[in-house]
Amino acid sequence: MARQIHIDRYECDMSRSTISRGSRAAAFVGFCYSIFLIICLIEISQAIDMLTPPGAITDGMTLVSARNVFEFGFFSPGSSRNRYLGIWYFQMSPQTIVWVANGNNPLNDSSGVVSIAKDGNFILQDQTERIVWSTGAENISSNGTFLQLLDSGNLVLRNDNGGNAGDYIWQSFDHFSNTWLTGMELGKDPSSGLFRRMTSWTSADDRAPGQYSCSVNPRGPPLEFVLWEEDSLQYRSGPWNGVGFSGLNFEPNNVFDLKLVVNAEETYYEYVPETKLVTTRSVLNYSGIMQRYVWNATSLKWLLVGNLPNDPCDNYGHCGANSICTISDPTICSCLTGFIPKSQQGWEIHDWTGGCVRKHPLNCSKGEGFLELKGVKVPDHWLIWINTGMSLKECQAECLKNCSCTAYANSNVSGQGSGCLIWHGDLIDVRQLVRPSAQNLYIRVAASDLGPKKRNKVILVVLTSSLSLTVMFSVCCIILLNRAHIQAGKVKLQRWSKDMEDLELPTFEIMSVAKATNNFSESNKLGEGGFGPVFKGQIPTGQEIAVKRLSVDSNQGLIEFKNEVKLISKLQHRNLVKLLGCCIQGEERMLIYEYMHDKSLDYYIYDSTRRHSLTWTRPFDIIIGIARGLLYLHRDSRLRIVHRDLKASNILLDREMNPKISDFGIARTFGGDQSCERTGRVVGTYGYMSPEYVVNGLYSMKSDVFSFGVLILEIISGRKNRGFCHPDHNLNLLGHAWKLWHDGNASQLIDELMEESFPMSEVEKCIQVGLLCVQRRPEDRPTMSDVLLMLDGESTILPQPKTPGFYMERCGDERLNLLGEECPTTNDVTITVVEGR
Ligand SMILES: *[C@@H]1O[C@H](CO)[C@@H](O)[C@H](O)[C@H]1NC(C)=O
Ligand SMILES: *[C@@H]1O[C@H](CO)[C@@H](O)[C@H](O)[C@H]1NC(C)=O
Repeated sequence: MARQIHIDRYECDMSRSTISRGSRAAAFVGFCYSIFLIICLIEISQAIDMLTPPGAITDGMTLVSARNVFEFGFFSPGSSRNRYLGIWYFQMSPQTIVWVANGNNPLNDSSGVVSIAKDGNFILQDQTERIVWSTGAENISSNGTFLQLLDSGNLVLRNDNGGNAGDYIWQSFDHFSNTWLTGMELGKDPSSGLFRRMTSWTSADDRAPGQYSCSVNPRGPPLEFVLWEEDSLQYRSGPWNGVGFSGLNFEPNNVFDLKLVVNAEETYYEYVPETKLVTTRSVLNYSGIMQRYVWNATSLKWLLVGNLPNDPCDNYGHCGANSICTISDPTICSCLTGFIPKSQQGWEIHDWTGGCVRKHPLNCSKGEGFLELKGVKVPDHWLIWINTGMSLKECQAECLKNCSCTAYANSNVSGQGSGCLIWHGDLIDVRQLVRPSAQNLYIRVAASDLGPKKRNKVILVVLTSSLSLTVMFSVCCIILLNRAHIQAGKVKLQRWSKDMEDLELPTFEIMSVAKATNNFSESNKLGEGGFGPVFKGQIPTGQEIAVKRLSVDSNQGLIEFKNEVKLISKLQHRNLVKLLGCCIQGEERMLIYEYMHDKSLDYYIYDSTRRHSLTWTRPFDIIIGIARGLLYLHRDSRLRIVHRDLKASNILLDREMNPKISDFGIARTFGGDQSCERTGRVVGTYGYMSPEYVVNGLYSMKSDVFSFGVLILEIISGRKNRGFCHPDHNLNLLGHAWKLWHDGNASQLIDELMEESFPMSEVEKCIQVGLLCVQRRPEDRPTMSDVLLMLDGESTILPQPKTPGFYMERCGDERLNLLGEECPTTNDVTITVVEGR
């Protein structure tokens, strides 16, 4: 193999031939001679780079490559006291290990001995002479076999006596650890059947192979670089297309590149530094990221120059099937043209896992064609067909021939482009890229999805032919077309209105809403909601209304708006706020509610003066009312609904201080037997969100129960859970309540202002129910019907609460809490805090 011969020449040193050919005495003389030469003539190294039998290396001794680049010996990683045999950069601080022999079998003392065994293998033994690790080669002899550490970092077992001088019996470059050095080749070697893959370590202290690995996809051709976690694909570079990997997302640099080398014998990937002078390495770290480093000889530090995967769009199938990932897009994922989200709801909350499905199914009928998608990483190739000889045109014809073909592209994009790749089935893991290696993909769609282009043609034909008749006629045509356009607009609006009719929801004229709100005047403004301002108004019948007006630029708002209309129009309960109607006209989107005279609950409970006006029965009634409203949502309504953003500011109070749950912008419906769902985007309010929701994106009725528990404790204490401070400890309100209750001092939680006006037993019951609702594990929390039984019932015996979830938070700085230990964020969870008015 060319590379090895090359290294051989480079490594050439005068002593080796003496050693391998001569007797043991001659070898010894030669060995001394070589040391003498190195000491006297070169004066840079006293190092020994070879081990010959019967020599041995014990713990503390090392081999150093000829030019002092790498060192081989025993080491202990991190804080571990285990001894491993490995290779590292010579005299580099901190020690940078690049290869490990006995990752699975560390020694627990420094008794290890490395030698060449009688059968010619290089072995590691412990103090009992048990073989801990061995190169395991067959049919070799110890006669003339020696171990050498090369300046490339390759540790080789060789015997130059045999016919194939220059071939290694064994080399560490064939057995990747977690590091990829220049000259190492990933992938399959057909002659030996060896599958070379890089494997992460388990942890900083443990060199056992971890769960991540990367190599060349054995599913090829076409060939691509891939990264797995266990057996599941995490990242793919996209196939090699003659220019580069279709989806490789490196920052352009002039230091190195990933190159595909194809020759008669093997196909592999090589890491090629642009100049021989730079030292680079890639590490698959134990969180599954391949990091690329360059040595900065000035600062004597490794510089991190790139990661793979590098952004969310690099994560395999991030947007689900038949979609495209565009990192610069605020929403990141969108369906390919001709496709629509499989679950509109999932899509709206940025849960892309469902992917997209065809708007119009393909049935191999006439008129099906292709839409060009420019500059992308082409899809994964589970079912792919490849022909390197075809032109793009022939490729298209080939795709049209087979009804299950969904897309095609050139297999080689250099020059004019050539070759043919054909996909069948779903198109997975497509991303937009601005790199020379990105290519064009042609996606098959139904005739109706080719729409606009064809229609334009028709219009053109009509126009030209009419022009050829008379100018008058064409003018007529234009007028007619214009009218058609206006009509289309009308139809669209009517469709919206029709949706609304289906919802049995009255619509309001914009003029009458404007009039009712004094033309949306500042003085009528009640506040600012999640998606726009809220105004107070009065309609001619005398009824007071609250108008939520969606900001024009609020994209999220539009989604929440539709969601709210859909859900709340179907609900009716005395503890839910009543939607009177909506107004959709032009760009305007408004929701019209009954006006709640006494503001929202937060207006009272956190304010000491207003709080004063509440006597005990009122807070108790409010708690019961909220519980009833919630039970209706969870169990009794036509749709079973999880509110997901229950908090004091979303509880409105009418003249009689009846609580009404409002703001269904992020509420979700649940199927009959569904008990739990996962979302990729956590939306809610800190302090009220349950642990499983914040951490894992899991929501269920029980996440509402958690929020309800927080609300109970807030109502009773008059304090906010978030930002709660106590001089004696760092607990939040939940932790504080738990501590008091646990110490038998529950009554201390009660706000002094209310102290005189309540029956103690009732309040203690509320605290206990509140604590039960905020249990860490959802299954430990009661359902809302349990809650009502506990609160309403006379003789129910309540379970004893355990420590609540999320009970420790640093107080004061709210942002600290966002990032604090209690709210760990994982890669796939984006925390969005929607603070109400
Ligand atoms: C792995 O690499 C990524 C990206 O450089 C880094 O954020 C992460 O902390 C690394 N993990 C470990 C365990 O070093
Ligand atoms: C279409 O392609 C699929 C997948 O390659 C193949 O199994 C099937 O036989 C092809 N059908 C025809 C009619 O060529």
